[in-house]
Amino acid sequence: MTLTDTEKADAARKSLEYVKDGMVVGLGSGTTATFAINFLGQKVREGLKIRGIPTSRASAELARSLMIPLTSFDEVAYTDVTIDGADEVAPGLALIKGGGGALLHEKIVATASRCLVIVADEHKLVERLGRFPLPVEVIPFAASPVKKQLEEMGAHPVLRSGQRGSPYITDEGNYIFDCHYGEIQDPAAVAQALKSMTGVVEHGLFLGLASVAIVAGPSGARIINA
Ligand code: A5P
Repeated sequence: MTLTDTEKADAARKSLEYVKDGMVVGLGSGTTATFAINFLGQKVREGLKIRGIPTSRASAELARSLMIPLTSFDEVAYTDVTIDGADEVAPGLALIKGGGGALLHEKIVATASRCLVIVADEHKLVERLGRFPLPVEVIPFAASPVKKQLEEMGAHPVLRSGQRGSPYITDEGNYIFDCHYGEIQDPAAVAQALKSMTGVVEHGLFLGLASVAIVAGPSGARIINA
């Protein structure tokens, strides 16, 4: 394990303090959330009773392989807690997410969570969002017109590529434009502008959603409350 992996694992381990018997737990996506799902699987083997709502096919497969019972929003209205990673964490727990491509389901689960716990290594902490390219999920039919609008707003969009040079396809069959804004001065305004573009399904700005971030560095994990 690299030092960063150890930090991710430390943050993920601590996040389990937020999970109690009987809870519905949102299962995030990405490498840090994967540590958390593995730790949850261990707790389930030891007798913890939870039901999970995964935020991606990959997390669903992992949860199934660990015998974590799953549920869905057809059966429950919210998750008690969701544990997920982030690509950037700024003051006020403003986040960029979606580096792994699961932003749409992640945001659906995040907005239906009573408590969103973000797990990250301290390299994710930034003063301002935007150094990490902001993912924007777009319906393929709308890719060209949306790209034009993104260019006009100075987003420098790059179509994410998948296997063998073809576009990356999300779990919902959409494309992702990774947008290079540089430092984002007004994330709320950018979020609003993106949401107003027809064909944009979702973007990776998570504002006002996280309850707490568990951020780990070489000297351990610390908690940042919203
Ligand atoms: C997945 O779409 C993302 O939102 C991840 O949560 C985010 O990219 C963080 O991933 P890592 O934990 O792998 O850095």
